[in-house]
Amino acid sequence: MGILNLELKKVVDDSYEIEIGYQLTDELVSDLEKGLVGSIRKFAVITDTNVRDLYAKPICEKLIQAGYGVELFVFAAGEKSKTRETKAMIEDAMLEKGFRRDCCVIAVGGGVVTDLAGFVAGTYGRGVPFINYATTLLAAADASVGGKTAVDTPLATNLIGLFNQPKKVYLDIACWETLPKREISSGLAETIKHACLASYDMFEFLEENMEDILRCQKFACEYIAENNCKIKYDVVMKDERESGLREILNLGHTVGRAIETVSDYRLLHGEALAIGMAAQVQLSARLGYMSEEQAERVIALYEKAGLSTAVPEYIDREALVKKLYTDKKVRDGKLRFVLQRGIGNVVEFSDGVYATPIEESLAREIIMELK
Ligand code: GLY
Repeated sequence: MGILNLELKKVVDDSYEIEIGYQLTDELVSDLEKGLVGSIRKFAVITDTNVRDLYAKPICEKLIQAGYGVELFVFAAGEKSKTRETKAMIEDAMLEKGFRRDCCVIAVGGGVVTDLAGFVAGTYGRGVPFINYATTLLAAADASVGGKTAVDTPLATNLIGLFNQPKKVYLDIACWETLPKREISSGLAETIKHACLASYDMFEFLEENMEDILRCQKFACEYIAENNCKIKYDVVMKDERESGLREILNLGHTVGRAIETVSDYRLLHGEALAIGMAAQVQLSARLGYMSEEQAERVIALYEKAGLSTAVPEYIDREALVKKLYTDKKVRDGKLRFVLQRGIGNVVEFSDGVYATPIEESLAREIIMELK
């Protein structure tokens, strides 16, 4: 017998546009008519119960008016729905409605919707294209851009998923005005994280304009939408698959994701991240990468954005320490943290290495000392 060599070298161009604006549904339809997803005429619009009537149904109506085949798939709003079970439920419903490989998924909603729908698209019929229409600040700041798609499991968040890039992302700032204040603050947690890791100027802007941001003033929303995207895509373009640099986007998430799970999702993602960032700046200060004053300034900005950095009473801090080990950055059983250098930068521990091992005893000490 012999050895056969199956050559499968690939050159892939997954580039896509992120359009930032107000009420972008006409742009979406016009892009489809211009061939954004080739000749596909059948669309699975995936959304949640919060967004269905406000944004998803009007999008479906516009697509139907334009002559496309459209079905709406809705699941219960909230992180608790971001599961393999919900994914299977949508897939079965799509199969039932006759969707095959000649379809495209349109995710309409926040981070839970874009994460889940992108994952559905990545495995449906071994992969169909998808488009993100982001309606929340959190999705605009982070989830809808960069191609990370996933579901949570009972153990922890985002452990099962795919890198899968959308064909286009629409960030509809007009939607932010309809968000509850708690959701705006949650999105600001990722926004402040971006400033902390990459831009002192952005950090100062957030300090100076927080009231206007919370009131969804146009200039402030446009500034944060653009700057979040720039920071995120600068990183993703260099390291799409998180082999090094992309780990910096995980700043604050070691404790943040763990506390989100331990809270059983009573904390929104951004609320959990605010606490994770408080832990991160305390650790960075302890290790000499930033001053106590800088750490306090970061914490003060989170509080100004309406986010408490205190650990809620109901959280078992020992359970939180154990949960840290479900973090995707853990290597050889060791906790690893991304750390801030001052404000607007992160620590590069060696060439291309942005996360460092931290002893459990030190992580525990920081967690026990949090407010
Ligand atoms: N949310 C972190 C990342 O996209 O890498």
